[in-house]
Amino acid sequence: MKIRKAVFPVAGLGTRVLPATKAMPKEMLTIVDKPLIQYVVDEAKEAGIEHFIFVTGRNKGVIEDHFDRMFELDATLESRGKKAEMEILQRDQPEAGAMSFTRQQAPLGLGHAVWCARDIVGNEPFAVLLPDELVLHTPGCLKQMIEAAGKLGDKSNLIAVEEVPADRTHQYGICGVGKRQGNIFEIDGMVEKPPKGTAPSNLSITGRYILQPEIFQILQRHERGAGGEIQLTDAMIGLAKSQSFYGVEFEGERHDCGSKAGFLRANIAFGMAREDLRDGLREEMKRHLSN
Ligand code: G1P
Repeated sequence: MKIRKAVFPVAGLGTRVLPATKAMPKEMLTIVDKPLIQYVVDEAKEAGIEHFIFVTGRNKGVIEDHFDRMFELDATLESRGKKAEMEILQRDQPEAGAMSFTRQQAPLGLGHAVWCARDIVGNEPFAVLLPDELVLHTPGCLKQMIEAAGKLGDKSNLIAVEEVPADRTHQYGICGVGKRQGNIFEIDGMVEKPPKGTAPSNLSITGRYILQPEIFQILQRHERGAGGEIQLTDAMIGLAKSQSFYGVEFEGERHDCGSKAGFLRANIAFGMAREDLRDGLREEMKRHLSN
């Protein structure tokens, strides 16, 4: 199964991290020295994605600017001989023509955001990456999923899953677990944000999906689910009646950067993974812990 396109739903309001996200998109929050959106685009690139589709909304224009060239900056860096910085800017930018931007005009839910990308995706399997979820691992989460997809049938759908404590299952989409082979299992049921004590397992749907284009026919119905939103999980439940769904337990630490605690934790984890920052950061943390 060749996956060429990835959808990045970036229209969300980021209410969990206000006031940081009042005037700035949450996808531009910085982990160490890169915005969240850059991490997920890099993860998609590493997995072989060739076309990057952003579903944006009001106040999200800076995401487009981030992936554009800034001639003044390029010229200034060049005149000052700042080669390393110039290389970083070049490295981070997808090729011209490899990005599309479309708008979700109203916050109707994740399913609706994905549906907004239907014409750009067309009739082929595609990936979805939620930018507020980062996984610290090489190879990245999407690459691990594409490798898993290679072992499955062409009309398969895959979801990255991770165990969460039982008292947090009501915050996520949760999968029922069928036949297992290594880190891949057949999903035999899904439920979006189950009420406490009713979850079929503690395996939560994380922000990485590989989906077949038939999902759009179901999303087209605009049926409302949990929280009154058009839920991607509900559309997947519909598609699971005619196609297989697999859960992939990936390697790596997942960080929910859309919450304040998760964002701080991610900065520490990604900072500690950086050779140039690790020692200084460790010393600083020691100092704070001893106070
Ligand atoms: C969305 C999905 C949910 C998934 C979660 C992962 O929920 O609907 O199934 O578990 O992302 O972050 P949201 O966080 O947008 O409420």
